[in-house]
Order: sequence, then structure tokens, then C-alpha cells
Amino acid sequence: MTAAASASSLDGRAFLLDAPADAGFEVGGLVVCTDAGGAQVGQIDELGVSAEGRLTGTGTILGELGRDALDARRSHAFPEAAVARAGERAVELVHGDPGSGLQIGTLLGDEGVGARLLAHRFNRHTFWCGQSGSGKTYALGVVLEQLLVNTSLPMVIFDPNADFVRLREQRRLPAGSPAAAHQEALQERDIRILRPASAAPDALRVRFVTLAMRGKAAVLRLDPLTDRAEYNAFMHLDLESGSADADEIIPRLRSLGTAASLALADRVENLRVLDWDIWAGEHEAVTEILDERPDATVLDLGGFGYADESLVVAMAVLDDLWAKRESRRPMLIVIDEAHNLCSPDTDSPLHVAVRERIIQIAAEGRKFGLWLLLSTQRPSKVHPNIISQCDNLALMRMSSPLDLAELADVFGFAPRAMLERSPRFRQGEALFAGGFVAAPTLLKVGDRLTVEGGVDVPVPLR
Ligand SMILES: Nc1ncnc2c1ncn2[C@@H]1O[C@H](COP(=O)(O)OP(=O)(O)O)[C@@H](O)[C@H]1O
Ligand SMILES: [Mg+2]
Repeated sequence: MTAAASASSLDGRAFLLDAPADAGFEVGGLVVCTDAGGAQVGQIDELGVSAEGRLTGTGTILGELGRDALDARRSHAFPEAAVARAGERAVELVHGDPGSGLQIGTLLGDEGVGARLLAHRFNRHTFWCGQSGSGKTYALGVVLEQLLVNTSLPMVIFDPNADFVRLREQRRLPAGSPAAAHQEALQERDIRILRPASAAPDALRVRFVTLAMRGKAAVLRLDPLTDRAEYNAFMHLDLESGSADADEIIPRLRSLGTAASLALADRVENLRVLDWDIWAGEHEAVTEILDERPDATVLDLGGFGYADESLVVAMAVLDDLWAKRESRRPMLIVIDEAHNLCSPDTDSPLHVAVRERIIQIAAEGRKFGLWLLLSTQRPSKVHPNIISQCDNLALMRMSSPLDLAELADVFGFAPRAMLERSPRFRQGEALFAGGFVAAPTLLKVGDRLTVEGGVDVPVPLR
């Protein structure tokens, strides 16, 4: 007869596992360890097969199991405990009340159990990673919808591919389903979709005169030292007193007639910044709209004629949120395709200005209620000083071993063996780890409530 499954723990934090090969254990799975001191829930971090053909592994103890609750603050050591897969009840106790939290899908391998995120832990930065087509944007939409349903946390969404521009439109779902109730809640929310080509009040515009000096200089690619004379002429150009926006600048510069002001006028004309659609003029600027804190504000960054325009929007918004940080009004800053704004490899003045601001928000924004949610294809595409500040991880399919090794380094709280499942994830499957889940969780995201904007274009068949 083979020995039954057993576990031991020297410190009440980690445990060792030894079980027959057919015990049905898997990495990430929850188990209950029972000894004379009581029952405790653990999660399996690593599994292997011994020379004798037995399953051996290690895991983490999540807490003591009471009748109605899991006490995550208590755990105890044990020389030997009987161990078995956690039943439905224990699994639910770990993941919280079925009625609470953000319901974003079902557990992988246990479709009957809902997977939930802890809404109150979005007060940390979140890193969301997966290769193109793994379902990041879709899943992100599921999470954002749930945040809108369950919280009053305002969010601004930097949307480079017009994926979220239909966030106000509901998908057709069977009436009476729980999802339909969520849709009703969504209908109540104030969701603004700002697009470059939209008419007022939904135009995506920036007010030049309210940009910080450094931001204005970045728009004009002016360096305070390399371009001393022009920078100085610009500094002394009293823009605030002009009532209209950017189009007053050139006549004023030409009328000044100095070498520096004429050079500056040439610069403005050559860069064609006055041709940009982005300037607010009598429109409402994006920063003014965000000041009113709509529940969600989608910024469609893809529709501009000049590449720099989307960077100017990002800079204006981030600088403004930062400048007003002392007001401590929370904002979730969602950046899809975050490498556009926080790549370590870009060096234009606008790129640098945006990236530096995001680095600052990553380092210091938390206590002011400025929380980042960054989604990208590879960890190396986001500046390391930003990633290292993230306490929540969502990982979808990613097949590069190098990228996975990097994630394992940065996100020590995600068990390596769970990360290693990522190359075999199907679309929509993910690992969530960090503060916003009760325990590292493998899950499959559920269905969107609203209509996706940028669905993949199919190959036309004959
Ligand atoms: N969980 C899902 N259920 C249904 N369709 C999905 C799901 N995830 C992704 N898709 C579809 O697959 C395509 C790619 O997904 P997307 O989220 O855009 O991937 P990514 O952002 O990682 O590149 C989209 O057309 C989307 O509709
Ligand atoms: Mg995407």
C-alpha cells in the first residue's frame, strides 16, 4: 500500500508535500492540511515527481481554516499533517464571498468557482502582461467594467487602438442574468469617450497655455541649454495673458523682431504644431473634463494626424494629475500598450517628459491616490523603475522564457511554477498575483458586458 498524502511545515509559513502520483494535486491548487492543531489552507507552489514515482512539492500556508472564515493572520507549524485537495467551501473562503469582490471569470480547472479580485487593492500599481492576441485588452475591459460596477474609483483610459471607445454600449445578454444586473449598473455611470475627430463636448483637446513650462518646451523640442536664446525668448513670451490659444503665437513672435523670437517663430512653423488638431481653443480641454472626475474617461489616442499629439495628451493629463496630487482625489490611470508611453528606449523630449512623469507617479503617486494600471506585451518594454513599483500582476499567455524569467525576478510573490504555465495559456486565461487577489490565481476571464471597440479584423475568405 502506498503512503497517503502528507505535508510538514517547520515554520507555519511554507510546507513540504509528499503524495501518491494520482493525488490530483497541481501547481496553484489549494489544499487543506489537517493536524492536531486544526485545518489550514495552503497553496501548492512547486511540484515534481520523485525517483519513487511520488509527487513531491512545496507550498505556502495561507491561513487557518475556521468554520466560516479563513484567518490569514494565523498559521501554525506541524511535523505531519494529512493533506487533501481543498473542497469548494474552502476554495470559496480563500477567494472571499461569492457576492463580494470583482467577478472577473472562473478558476482555471474549476469552472464552477468564480474568480474574484479585491477591489480595494487597486490602490496599488498593476502590471498587465501578455503577448499580442493573448486577450489582454479584452480581459482588461472585463476588469474595468467590474470596477465601474462595484466601485466609484474614477478611471482615465489611455486607449491607443480605439479598443474602449464603445464602453458605453451594452452587449446583448439574456435578461435576468447576473450580468444583466451589472449592465444596469453600468448604464448609470458617467462614461466619457474623448476622440480627436469628435465635436464638442467629446473632442480630445489640450490647452497649450496651461501646460507646464517644461511641457511647452517639450512640444517645441526646446532645450534650455542647447537652445538658450530661443528658450529664453519663449520664457518671456507672456502666453497666459493671451485669451486665444496657440495660433496667436507666431504673429506675436514675428512682431517682436529679435533674432531669437524670429528663430522661435520658424521653429513653431516648421514643426507645424499649429496644424495639430489637439489645441483646445474654445473647446473644453481634457484636463478640465477629468477635473470633474467622470466615472471613466476614455482617451482615444489613435486618431491623431501627428504622432506627437498623443504624447502631448498623455503629458498634459499626467502633469495635471501630478500637479494637483495634494488634493488626493483618487484616479486609476489605465495605459493600454504602455510601451507607447513608458518604454525605456525612447528619447524625444515628449517621450522623456511622459516617461519621467510616469516613473514619478509609479514611485510616489500611491499615497496621493494616483494608481497605475499598465498593460504591455513584454516586461522589457516598460521602464524598470516603473515595473518594480507594481504590486499587482496579471499575466496572460507569454511564451518567451527570458520574459518569464524577468517577471519572476520582479514579481517574487508569483510562484515560478505558476508563471511557467503562461506559455500554454489559451486566449483569455491568466495568472493574477499580488495584493489584488487573495492568493495567486489561475483563471479564465469571463465575458465582456460592453462592446469591444477594436475587434481583430478577419481574413476575408472567398
Ligand atoms: N476572453 C475572450 N473571449 C472572447 N474573445 C476574446 C477573449 N479574449 C480576446 N478575445 C478576442 O481576441 C482578439 C484579441 O484579443 P485582445 O484582447 O485584443 O488581445 P491583446 O490585447 O492581448 O492583443 C480580439 O478580437 C478579442 O475580441
Ligand atoms: Mg491589446
